[in-house]
Amino acid sequence: MTCDIGFIGLGVMGKNLVLNLADNGYTVAAFDLSTDKVEDAIAQDALENKSGSPRVVGCSSYTELFSRLKAPHTIVLSVPAGAPVDHVCESLIGAGIQPDDIVIDTGNSLWVDTVEREKKYKNNFILFSSAVSGGETGARFGPALMPSGSPYAWTRIKPIWEAIAAKVDPATGKPLERTKPGEIVENGDPCAAYIGPAGAGHFVKMVHNGIEYADMQIICEAYHVLRAGLGYSPEQVADIFEKWNAGPLDSYLMEISVEVLRHKPNNDDTPLVDLILDKAGQKGTGLWTAISALEVGCPAPTIAQAVFARSISSFKALRVKASTRLAGPTLPELSEQEKQAYVDRLHDAIYCSKICAYAQGFQLMSLAAKEYKWTLNFANIAKIWRAGCIIRAIFLQSITDAFDRDSELENLLVDEFFVEQLNKHQLNWRQAIADATLLGVPIGAISSSLSYYDSVRCGVLPANLLQGQRDFFGAHTFERVDAPAGKKFHVEWSSEDRKLIQL
Ligand code: 6PG
Repeated sequence: MTCDIGFIGLGVMGKNLVLNLADNGYTVAAFDLSTDKVEDAIAQDALENKSGSPRVVGCSSYTELFSRLKAPHTIVLSVPAGAPVDHVCESLIGAGIQPDDIVIDTGNSLWVDTVEREKKYKNNFILFSSAVSGGETGARFGPALMPSGSPYAWTRIKPIWEAIAAKVDPATGKPLERTKPGEIVENGDPCAAYIGPAGAGHFVKMVHNGIEYADMQIICEAYHVLRAGLGYSPEQVADIFEKWNAGPLDSYLMEISVEVLRHKPNNDDTPLVDLILDKAGQKGTGLWTAISALEVGCPAPTIAQAVFARSISSFKALRVKASTRLAGPTLPELSEQEKQAYVDRLHDAIYCSKICAYAQGFQLMSLAAKEYKWTLNFANIAKIWRAGCIIRAIFLQSITDAFDRDSELENLLVDEFFVEQLNKHQLNWRQAIADATLLGVPIGAISSSLSYYDSVRCGVLPANLLQGQRDFFGAHTFERVDAPAGKKFHVEWSSEDRKLIQL
């Protein structure tokens, strides 16, 4: 059988993408360094395949992979970011890849690596990238895809990508879900749109992950306030989250938090969450987002704080030691009615913090686009995040609408819809932060979001004093509010008369 697509890397994501391609009518020649994984993918396809003809062919070498493929070849990679991508690219060159062949990197590669790779391999083949979001289920039944690189390659990949991507009901903006093998959704807006030149797609996926970190941390802080501050059980927190999930906080991450909180894996009442060690892992994309924000001068404190929160969680022994030495407040006795008021305020705090996290992510993409000369379509990016990806949420429709109203929107915080939402909820947000602080529960992402909000809405920041300090110790000069921009001033601090001079 001559196959439509070559596929390399049959881990969890790879295997599910292969089955998704097969469901959508594409035959796949699949290769992995582990023959067990190849056999596993073929066995899974045999179980699910109702078409009567084979859909996935296993290959035992790169050479065999080429012999099984239609030319020009389209090869999808699902291998870990970093050195493995280059290793596969070099092996494909060794096996005779042609300049018109396309290799699609679907991993979470660092975006600058993708830019370099596209140049490095341009005489050998076309390196295209398309980060995939949605985890195992997304890969199987419809992920969000962020393709970028050669526009010519995109014309070849587009029909395949639009077929396998998650779909959204154009009328409601809600996901049209596939849940069973063999199911396909014919209509609906595909969550796959061309992002831009090499690197742009991986940058956008990186920011998606930075927002994912922030979104997760905000939910976890709310859980912590409800659990440690107000004494609710995981079941009760799940009930609260379930109610919240019926409103503007409706999201995949809220939904799975309910599932995790309700799960009791043993035949007793111990909830899973109490069995899980409180040390967060990270593969690096949140850190990369925070670094990129610092590099392009984008304020993204909620995202950075979410990375720091994971770091502080890893110091378990220190935290346990400090917990017996450092004082916190005595918890107040609260009536059920008072607790309910805390819960309501917390809801609004999460909502506002979430708006800030997305505002930071979108501003970061906008500043990066200017810096790296990409033309990004933010309404399209918000659209493809409405389904399939980890941060999918009802809220993405409001962001889509904001960029549809103004494609040049500098920051979501000044969009009319979000202005109204923030103005309506900011007092509760402040009070919720005061509540948590007085309960001694750390809420770094929620409170740094409020500081971000207050900084953005602050017409005069104390950066005037800061500039004075810099001028004092280092003659770093400053601009004046009453002089044209760019004119530099300095005070001769060490002279007797401390004269203010223009430079
Ligand atoms: C996605 C996820 C995916 C992965 C994260 C996990 O969009 O499908 O973001 O890419 O699960 O990279 O990241 P951490 O291990 O750093 O939490």
